[in-house]
Amino acid sequence: MYYHHLGRYPHKRHVIFRKPDGGLYKEHLIGEEGFSNHATLAYHLYEPTRIRKVDDTPENVAPRIAVGNNFRPRAFYSFNVKTSGDPITARRPLMVNDDVIMGVAAPDQSMKGYFYRNAFADELLFIHEGSGTLHTILGKVPFRKGDYLVIPRSLLHWIEFDGDRGRFLYIESYSPIRVPERYLTRYGQFMEHSPFCERDIRPPVELETFDEKGEFPIKIKRRNEMFTYALDHHPFDVVGWDGYHWPYAFSIYDFEPITGRIHMPPPIHQTFEGRNYVICSFVPRLYDYHPESIPAPYNHSNIDTDEVLYYVEGEFMSRKHVEEGMFSLHPMGVPHGPHPGAVEKSIGQKETNELAVMIDTFRPLQLTEDAVNVEDPHYYLSWIEDSSNKK
Ligand SMILES: [Fe+2]
Repeated sequence: MYYHHLGRYPHKRHVIFRKPDGGLYKEHLIGEEGFSNHATLAYHLYEPTRIRKVDDTPENVAPRIAVGNNFRPRAFYSFNVKTSGDPITARRPLMVNDDVIMGVAAPDQSMKGYFYRNAFADELLFIHEGSGTLHTILGKVPFRKGDYLVIPRSLLHWIEFDGDRGRFLYIESYSPIRVPERYLTRYGQFMEHSPFCERDIRPPVELETFDEKGEFPIKIKRRNEMFTYALDHHPFDVVGWDGYHWPYAFSIYDFEPITGRIHMPPPIHQTFEGRNYVICSFVPRLYDYHPESIPAPYNHSNIDTDEVLYYVEGEFMSRKHVEEGMFSLHPMGVPHGPHPGAVEKSIGQKETNELAVMIDTFRPLQLTEDAVNVEDPHYYLSWIEDSSNKK
């Protein structure tokens, strides 16, 4: 993201840095793309390589695909997905392709007795309900409803919800999750036209450093399998770090909408991007102010995009039957647009209170059994007025 630091570290990299007992702190570079992109240099009490145990029989957590080649507009009610467990085990994938896995989780337990890292994907959690703390080896990131939590791949962490309960949308990204390049200067500062900036990004605030020996299990997700290994010391033993590679929170309520006299297209809502996908935030905003403007969107053919909307709260102007936690999916090759009556109804309206997250993928999404099980089977008919009330 940008340069940040916590705790203690030596005045130069790769020099002597001693503990009070005379031993050396263990230096650890955590870097992206080999040594060719953002990195953080951390200092541990113990070598992060001190593996005590490896379990070679991974748990299969592959999404169970129900629809491999989808062409139909669909809607799912994610609050009806059966999910329970802790913030890792409660996850239920709904839509997947070779770039992302997206799903939901409503944990009702805390993470006990293990740490977690995703060795293959950056993770983005959008907190729909609840608050808590993301605990990482680089420090704590407190979170609350409306936050996007960005967790770089391989970062060891655990997630704590206040009261052990919460609800979130998650995206596993097989490429780094970035803010759009066009918001940044060539050296990485947010520019004036960006809808958010460094002041809205919340980096880790406090290191948790433990000096404990024992057996500390870590679950590692690699693609569709979950491995377990154990270190011989508490893995949260970092005394300091500096660099550009760290987890952070950004609240959707801090996204400053861009408005215009006539309808502005979805790229103005863009918040994140990865390889072959973008993530946008639709937030409460004033509508277009040309005297003859039509605030509702126009029909469009997303010719090379599968378009996913996740509805968070408020009234969504262009669609009927929208519920909190509903997903709509409009696949490439099939035009889509406002529901009957929505265009007329939008004329003259001054503002919207809609809150939604959009994920557009540039390669087709497959649907899991969990998605199909909570689907509205008549959604694709809902642009024909007399059948639009079937559900
Ligand atoms: Fe659209």
